[in-house]
Amino acid sequence: MDGNGRWATSRGLPRSEGHRAGTEAARGVVTRCRELGIRHLTLYTFSKENWGRPADEVKFLFDLLVRFLNRELDTLLQQSIRFLVLGEMADLPLATRKVLSHVIGKTAHCTEMTLNLALNYSGREEVLRACRRLIAQGVPPEAVTEERLAAELYTAGQPDPDLIIRTSGEMRLSGYLLWQSAYSEFAFPDTLWPDFTPAALDAVLAEFKGRTRRFGLTGEQVAATRGEKDAS
Ligand code: IPE
Ligand code: MG
Repeated sequence: MDGNGRWATSRGLPRSEGHRAGTEAARGVVTRCRELGIRHLTLYTFSKENWGRPADEVKFLFDLLVRFLNRELDTLLQQSIRFLVLGEMADLPLATRKVLSHVIGKTAHCTEMTLNLALNYSGREEVLRACRRLIAQGVPPEAVTEERLAAELYTAGQPDPDLIIRTSGEMRLSGYLLWQSAYSEFAFPDTLWPDFTPAALDAVLAEFKGRTRRFGLTGEQVAATRGEKDAS
């Protein structure tokens, strides 16, 4: 969800207004994904590197997150959306941890969609943590498989992302879901996050649907499994 700051600055507003507008965009995208029957959605909300921002901006972001979750809990329950956090929650401010734990607990039974917020998240840290957990369990080297390692990631039990969208025209991952994104498709719309409406999401999804995913196979192999003449 990139571009909140630029959205605000281009309007002569403080960056905080961009973050506030960004929460409205997030609400719209969550609702649209739920309508479309998308089963898993992850929003990259706060990276480990974001701690380096000015202290007042960091504080604003966590206060905003608390307000957002308190306001959205009823909607999550109505729409049967399970809420989870990807990232180290122990390092977050106490008030934030409290509301996160509350919403995670309240929505644990929800089955229609999983909404992950990547918070205090770093993909490298996540892989390191998984390695440490395997070592701590005494797993012997030959038993360390992709499945075993994936089961120790924050995303344990969830499928890898089909599509990763980064808004604002920046074309980099910034440590996002490094393990899980091995075969993901990517989209980098120029739209700044606060302007990323459900219609903008629809446009990205329509383009994504037209892609052929080959997973390392040839176009002919993909065509054969699909029973089509030409998938190249
Ligand atoms: C994304 O918008 C929000 C967070 C990282 C929390 P930015 O704040 O990165 O916006 P720009 O990149 O400065 O425009
Ligand atoms: Mg940014």
